[in-house]
Amino acid sequence: MKYLFFPSLDSTNSYCKREYERLDDSTLVYTYHQTQGKGRLGRRWEDDEGSLLFSILLKKDLAEERVPLLSLLCSSALFLTLRDENIPSLIKWPNDVLVEEKKVSGILLESVISERLDALILGIGINVNNEKFPDDIKEKATSLFLQTGKRFDKKRLLENYVSHFEKLYSDYQRGKDTFLTILKENSYLDGKQVSLNYYGENKEGVVLGIKENGNLLLKGKKGIFEVQSGEVTLENSYHKRSNAL
Ligand code: BTN
Repeated sequence: MKYLFFPSLDSTNSYCKREYERLDDSTLVYTYHQTQGKGRLGRRWEDDEGSLLFSILLKKDLAEERVPLLSLLCSSALFLTLRDENIPSLIKWPNDVLVEEKKVSGILLESVISERLDALILGIGINVNNEKFPDDIKEKATSLFLQTGKRFDKKRLLENYVSHFEKLYSDYQRGKDTFLTILKENSYLDGKQVSLNYYGENKEGVVLGIKENGNLLLKGKKGIFEVQSGEVTLENSYHKRSNAL
């Protein structure tokens, strides 16, 4: 992995998108502050000096059909990084990591497609030393500092994340999906009643698990079904709004 650091950027994802042609495969761009941090579904991603913000640019050997698995791989790498710090977490399909049911990170995958898939950008924001969050998200967001009372060296955490990512990614490239085992064993949604928006359609069911292809498997009123992506909302729980981040 090659590291590129900027004290401030509009967004590490946007930077990778603009510069992908001249940047090498496996370049990691990180910054202390983003002026236009992007979240999923067109939302903004706010940060403060406690946040760890980076994007990994991938250009080689990209198999389009296996791309959705990569956000699961990023979440699994974070799970392992937190485990090394003795912070138990759970992975909420498809791309959130929760500590004590609160979101500690965000993952935004973006692609550059011309005739084929030219580049993939894996953008990751981790709440590390953040002391507080804006009112509208403070019920559902947390940081490693708020969970442990300890401050973390962000660069060390980043390097540990990268070492987990590289191992999982090299297995993935060889067709060995180690990250799926981690995910399946530490999945937050298993057994939960959820509803989700799947391409504009509302679907409900109990989560049975995660399949080898990374899809979420559910049991609904009409039987078993699976979804490839979607915004999951928990039913009958005060975390019903947990995806509004
Ligand atoms: C989410 O909505 O949960 C995804 C948030 C992703 C935020 C990260 S921070 C680094 C990278 N650059 C961005 O602009 N967004 C991602």
